[in-house]
Amino acid sequence: MARVYLSPPDVGDEERQALLDAFDSNWIAPLGPDVDAFEREVAARAGVEQGVALASGTAALHLALVLLGIGPGDDVLVPSLTFVATANVVTYVGARPVLVDCHPDTWTIDPALVADELLLRARDGRLPGAVVTVDLYGQCADYDPLLAVCDQFGVPVIEDAAEALGATYRGRPAGSFGAAGVFSFNGNKIITTSGGGMLVSHDAALVDRARHLATQAREPVVHYEHTTIGFNYRLSNLLAALGRAQLRGLDARIGRRRLVNETYRRALSGLAGVSFMPLAAYGSSNYWLTCIVIDRDEFGAGPEDVRLALERLDIESRPTWKPLHLQPVFADAPVVGGAVAASIFDRGLCLPSGSNLSGSDLERVVGTIRAFAT
Ligand SMILES: Cc1ncc(COP(=O)(O)O)c(C=O)c1O
Repeated sequence: MARVYLSPPDVGDEERQALLDAFDSNWIAPLGPDVDAFEREVAARAGVEQGVALASGTAALHLALVLLGIGPGDDVLVPSLTFVATANVVTYVGARPVLVDCHPDTWTIDPALVADELLLRARDGRLPGAVVTVDLYGQCADYDPLLAVCDQFGVPVIEDAAEALGATYRGRPAGSFGAAGVFSFNGNKIITTSGGGMLVSHDAALVDRARHLATQAREPVVHYEHTTIGFNYRLSNLLAALGRAQLRGLDARIGRRRLVNETYRRALSGLAGVSFMPLAAYGSSNYWLTCIVIDRDEFGAGPEDVRLALERLDIESRPTWKPLHLQPVFADAPVVGGAVAASIFDRGLCLPSGSNLSGSDLERVVGTIRAFAT
C-alpha cells in the first residue's frame, strides 16, 4: 500500500498538458505569457490589483519587508505559531522579530496582544516597522481589530497567506488585507507550482517595484544597468503554466479538503479528549490542513502516540508548528505571551488532509485514532 502523505501535490492530465504546452512554446524562462497570466489570475482571485510571481513564498515575504523599508533597528511583530519562514525573513533584512502569541479561538495572532504591544511601544517611540499576520492552516487572522489598531498607529501589515489561498474573512479573500499579501505554491500547499510564491497588493506601484527587485533590479535599458541591489526571485514560465492549471481547480480542491475536515469532525468529535482547531465564524477556511488537539489525560494517549500509530501504517501526520518562541534559533527574540501557542504545540496533530486523499485512507486514519478510545 502506498504511503499516505500529509498534504501531497494533487496533479493530473491537465497540469501535465499545461506544462508540455509551455515547454513546446519555448518560453522556458522566468518570464513569459504564463507568468503574466498566472499573476493576473491569482490577483483576481485574491481581490487585489496586481501580483508578481516569485520563486517561493519566502522570497515574497522577503521582498515585502524590503519594499516597506524594514531594516536594521526595526522590530517586526510576528505570530509565534507559524512556519519559521515568517520570521526568518525579518532577520534577512537585519530587523528583529517580536513573537506574539495566538488567540485560542482562531490560532492566529491575538489582536488584543497586538493592540497592547503597539500602545506600549507608541508611548516610548518604539513602534515596529510592520506587523506580519499569518492565515494559519488556511484560516484568516481576525482582520477587523488587527487592521483597526495597526491603522491607528500607522503600522503597515504584511499578510502571510502562504497557506490560505481561497480562504475568506467577512467575504473578502485572503491575501487582500495588508499593504502586501503573500502566497506559497510549495509542493504541500493547496495548489502547487512545485516551488513558487506570489506577492500581491492593491498598490500596483509596489508590485512593479517588487518585480524590478526580483529581476536583479535591472534598469530598463539595453545594457546591464543597476542602481540598487536586487534578487533573482522570479518564477519560471513552465511552473506558472502548472500553477494556472492548478488554480482552475482551486475551488474543487477546497471542496475536497473541506469534506476531509468534515469527515474527521464527524468521526472523531465524539471521542473524549479530542477537539479540533476552531473554525472562526468570521470567515471560511480553505481547509488546508485539519488539526486536532488531544488531551492526554482524557484520551489516554498523546499526539505522539497517535502519530507513531499512524506511522506504523505508513501514514504521515505531523505535530502542529513548534512555536517560534520555543525555537533555539529565536531564543533571544522578545516574546509577547506564548502560553497558548505552546499548549497547542503540546497537544496538536495535523492529519492527512490532501485533496486527493482517498476515502479508504481517510477511514484508516479515523480507525487508527478511534482504536485508542476503545
Ligand atoms: C505560513 C508560511 N509562511 C511562509 C511559507 C514559505 O513559503 P515557501 O515554502 O513557498 O517559501 C510557508 C510554507 O512553506 C508557510 O506555511
